[in-house]
Amino acid sequence: MSKVTIVGAGNVGATCANVLAHEDICNEVVLIDIQGNMAKGKALDMWQQAPVDGYSTRVTGGDDYALTANSDIVIITAGIPRKPGMSRDDLISTNAKIVVSVTENILKYSKNPIIIVVSNPLDVMTYACWKASGLSDKRVIGMAGVLDTARYRAFLAEEIGCSPKDIQAILMGGHGDTMVPLPRYTTVSGIPVTELVKKETLEAIIQRTKMGGGELVNLMGTSAWYAPGAAAAQMAISILKNENRIYPCCIRLNGQYKLKDVFVGAPVKLSKRGVQQIIKLRLRKDEMALLHKSAAAVAEVVDVLDKMKLV
Ligand code: NAI
Ligand code: 2OP
Repeated sequence: MSKVTIVGAGNVGATCANVLAHEDICNEVVLIDIQGNMAKGKALDMWQQAPVDGYSTRVTGGDDYALTANSDIVIITAGIPRKPGMSRDDLISTNAKIVVSVTENILKYSKNPIIIVVSNPLDVMTYACWKASGLSDKRVIGMAGVLDTARYRAFLAEEIGCSPKDIQAILMGGHGDTMVPLPRYTTVSGIPVTELVKKETLEAIIQRTKMGGGELVNLMGTSAWYAPGAAAAQMAISILKNENRIYPCCIRLNGQYKLKDVFVGAPVKLSKRGVQQIIKLRLRKDEMALLHKSAAAVAEVVDVLDKMKLV
């Protein structure tokens, strides 16, 4: 038996629910939104898609948290998305209030779920959720690195002219312009990327990856949802299948990488326990400096949030 609740039935939440339903690995996916009928309607639509696409996952929805009772995983996508001209950090107070209240509501009905946070600003919202939840830091995980590496991998595949499936990459740091893609840990079916892509081209791709969210906001007038929804689902799948897949996730570092009590992206194994293990890479000095700069940028926004006393 497994049950996944997704709070926020907007673009990212509905996409995530749809990907999970198609995976056909959980008994139930519940969509919750303050716009209850919209969540109920999208869930009904997905349930009616089941006979066409051939899955058994029951999809339900509404605005009543009783529907979420005994969820194994909760994915929080509730909040407002970025509009052109806004940074992720502009969303802080609105989304923090939403994330804290969603977390409190969830815990009324599910004792010890694993929570995957998607709402922005991601690293700070993951911290807010963890603090509001009182859960172990192994059970509150933010989704950003899977999306950011997906963008990086897609750009590289386009440049190399190969399948994106063959690009493996890891990335660290916060979900923002200070994120730290790591070319030294990027391979194309085992071949170091530096053997296939010129330095300047790689640098341009890294820069495009850092601005990847903004590129889509400028094109669509709101932030992306297909890749983000699929990325959150991919994390949930590793947890549900207890697969120990290694993904870059936003997690609380507690001494690893010489960083303490800060939520930023790092490679982890995801299992039914949540964060099964934090992988410790032997970063070079320059890579470590970039990671620390990124963590400092997250800590600055956490300070702003702490001063608001919302959690
Ligand atoms: P959206 O506007 O399509 O959906 C958000 C949904 O949240 C809406 O349906 C809204 O009614 C609902 N909502 C608002 N307050 C709520 C509450 N208190 N309880 C329940 N539901 C509530 O937005 P979209 O595009 O789905 O984005 C959602 C969030 O995810 C945004 O904060 C966005 O910035 C973030 N995001 C994060 C990414 C990442 O990599 N971590 C990638 C893409 C988006
Ligand atoms: C993204 O990276 C805005 O965080 C969102 O697409």
